[in-house]
Amino acid sequence: MGHVPDTITITDDRTGKSVTVPITDGVFPSSALRELDPSLFMYDPAYLSTAACKSAITFLDGDAGILRHRGYPIEQLAEHSTYLEVAYLLIHGELPSQQELDTWTYEITHHTFMHENMRKRFVDGFHYDAHPMGMFVSAIAALGTFYDDAKQLGDEESRDKQILRLIAKAPTLAAMCHRFSVGLPFFLPDNELSYAANFLTMMWKIGEYDVHPVLERAMDVLFILHADHEQNCGTTAMRVVGSSHADPYSSAAAAAAALYGPLHGGANEQVVRMLGDIGSIDNVDEFVGDVKGGKGRLMGFGHRVYKNYDPRAQIIKQTAYEVFEVTGKNPLLDIALKLEEAALADSYFADRRLYPNVDFYSGLIYQAMGFPIEMFTVLFAIPRTSGWLAHWQELLGDEDQKISRPRQWYAGPEERDYVKLSER
Ligand code: CMC
Repeated sequence: MGHVPDTITITDDRTGKSVTVPITDGVFPSSALRELDPSLFMYDPAYLSTAACKSAITFLDGDAGILRHRGYPIEQLAEHSTYLEVAYLLIHGELPSQQELDTWTYEITHHTFMHENMRKRFVDGFHYDAHPMGMFVSAIAALGTFYDDAKQLGDEESRDKQILRLIAKAPTLAAMCHRFSVGLPFFLPDNELSYAANFLTMMWKIGEYDVHPVLERAMDVLFILHADHEQNCGTTAMRVVGSSHADPYSSAAAAAAALYGPLHGGANEQVVRMLGDIGSIDNVDEFVGDVKGGKGRLMGFGHRVYKNYDPRAQIIKQTAYEVFEVTGKNPLLDIALKLEEAALADSYFADRRLYPNVDFYSGLIYQAMGFPIEMFTVLFAIPRTSGWLAHWQELLGDEDQKISRPRQWYAGPEERDYVKLSER
């Protein structure tokens, strides 16, 4: 066989003009289209075929079920690493030395406190039954109003400070939103505790409270698994808003808002509600039949990129068993296992390559650990903050990037004359 060129040639049949451009790593530059005809656009709703940026943070092969951060397989990170180490890796590109990790941990730990007015004037102002994720989204944006230096995007030191603040304060904010929603007094961060233990303590402490080491580790593993997932909807929101040079708090609020949706981070909440609605393993087959008949989706199944078992779901399933050893089994587990088995054996799901995603089992763990369902997406947002910020930082340093501004395919009316109200 002769040499197959790594190029693509696009011919405009209207003019006969052709442009040949290189294909690198399966990607070709859209500048080919502009060369051919600057008024020509590609119609790509939901960016199914568009690589909107070059990124060195996360590698994902959806067909093979591979996820790596800065080259390191997620399985190895989940087994050997900690969330703060992974956050460092995402932000700085390399695993930290012991000294770097100590400094990073110290810095994060010493930025966990929040200005008193955040609670007194802002969080306390929410309606008594406000959803914690709605509170979290707006509280992230509000936090930015306390730091005028957050707008100094050209100043690396200031950028690093905001990154520390956001990663450090995300658990404090999350716990604050929860305690407000259940009417408990807020509990201040404890600098002696790990990131995960500190969060669990702020969530649950009433009188004596010691974090169980298995639950502390499980929380940390869940944080690792949710830290980044390349150009998902939330991260794309972070990049799009960040590209206008909005401050990182406003951009992270936009990313959190995107995560809130039930097709994205809100799915973990929907999975547990769905399992509760199914109610018994005897109803699983009927439920699967309903999904196939178009009555709703099997939440926690399917992924835009993974067309194989989501590697995070595999690890989470293992973590679930470890947690249940401590908390007792979540009664919904049996329904989830039966549902997974039924779906994987069914040609509807097999043909569409629908497998369990990260959200299928995470909610069961959260529930067994005592988290109310409304907190599930907040639990996703806490660690994803580091991923959002890694992408934000990468975006600001990327010379190829400009303000995000897609084009459209106009499908509205042609020009027409205004008709006075009295004549309509
Ligand atoms: N249950 C039943 N059918 C499904 C499901 C599902 N969960 N997901 C996709 N399908 C079907 C869909 O109806 C379509 O069938 P057809 O070709 O006959 O019309 C086909 O599979 C392709 O679906 P799609 O909607 O074109 O796929 P997508 O890539 O746009 O959607 C998804 C990806 C994650 C939004 C979708 O799979 C879904 O809604 N899943 C349930 C929600 C969920 O678990 N979300 C969490 C995603 S992982 C964490 C995160 O990123 O936040």
